[in-house]
Amino acid sequence: MRLKGKSALITGAARGIGRAFAAAYVAEGARVAVADIDKAAAEATAAEIGGYAVHLDVTSQASIDAAVARVVDVAGGIDILLNNAASFDLAPIVDITRASYQKLMDINVAGTLFPLQAVARQMIAQGRGGRIINMASQAGRRGEALVGVYCASKAAVISLTQSAGMDLIKHGIKVNAIAPGVVDTPMWDQVDALFAKYENLPLGEKKRQVGLAVPYGRMGRPEDLTGMAVFLASDEADYIVAQTFNVDGGNWMS
Ligand SMILES: NC(=O)c1ccc[n+]([C@@H]2O[C@H](COP(=O)([O-])OP(=O)(O)OC[C@H]3O[C@@H](n4cnc5c(N)ncnc54)[C@H](O)[C@@H]3O)[C@@H](O)[C@H]2O)c1
Repeated sequence: MRLKGKSALITGAARGIGRAFAAAYVAEGARVAVADIDKAAAEATAAEIGGYAVHLDVTSQASIDAAVARVVDVAGGIDILLNNAASFDLAPIVDITRASYQKLMDINVAGTLFPLQAVARQMIAQGRGGRIINMASQAGRRGEALVGVYCASKAAVISLTQSAGMDLIKHGIKVNAIAPGVVDTPMWDQVDALFAKYENLPLGEKKRQVGLAVPYGRMGRPEDLTGMAVFLASDEADYIVAQTFNVDGGNWMS
């Protein structure tokens, strides 16, 4: 029960990695807001894991403000924000569209910064510090031929984690990030289908290849990431500020 009595808001928590985080936080004693743009899925997940659902579109300031107000109303405040919602797309540089660029930057970058800002304001008003954990990626550590915009968006998340970490530590708010490698979630089904199209591969082949290439010997599972997410939210991580941690089976070293 390392998060006993804590109030947590997790974005994109209806499925995939966010859902595993929400279940792990509930198991550690936190009151968890399962926030997602997919309202029905958020409600189903919340009912299954023992949290409560919050409808949230991270690209809308009104929606962010309403979600923060709802969490404060239900749980009396916010101690932990896990910025997990994101979107993926893939295209060669010469084919990237403005619409795809705008969507990924809105969800992955603005959709990290503005929930962080709204929750930081709430945490400052509460006066008891807090934890903010952003989901980066190994994609933010270096570029990839077909993944230009997603890689840039995750590099921005790493940079924002550093800046917010430096700025908010004076309020006792610790901002850090997790950089997964390749994790088998609904997002990766989409990634696999896009690689199949651009690299002329059968469905499932890219997934197989990336899994074999992980030093650990397989793709990650959402549960492989929960230990770091609980640790960073717990008292044990009190002195950790502005860092991005690789949890990727050995894919990246830094
Ligand atoms: N799966 C991987 O291999 C991998 C690797 C590195 C990093 N990550 C990162 O981990 C996080 C979770 O990834 P995942 O694989 O579980 O993704 P996923 O696509 O399976 O789940 C993402 C969730 O975010 C929600 N969402 C999308 N747009 C939203 C919006 N505008 N507002 C609120 N919610 C929204 C979706 O409804 C969904 O429930 C993401 O930040 C992703 O970039 C994933």
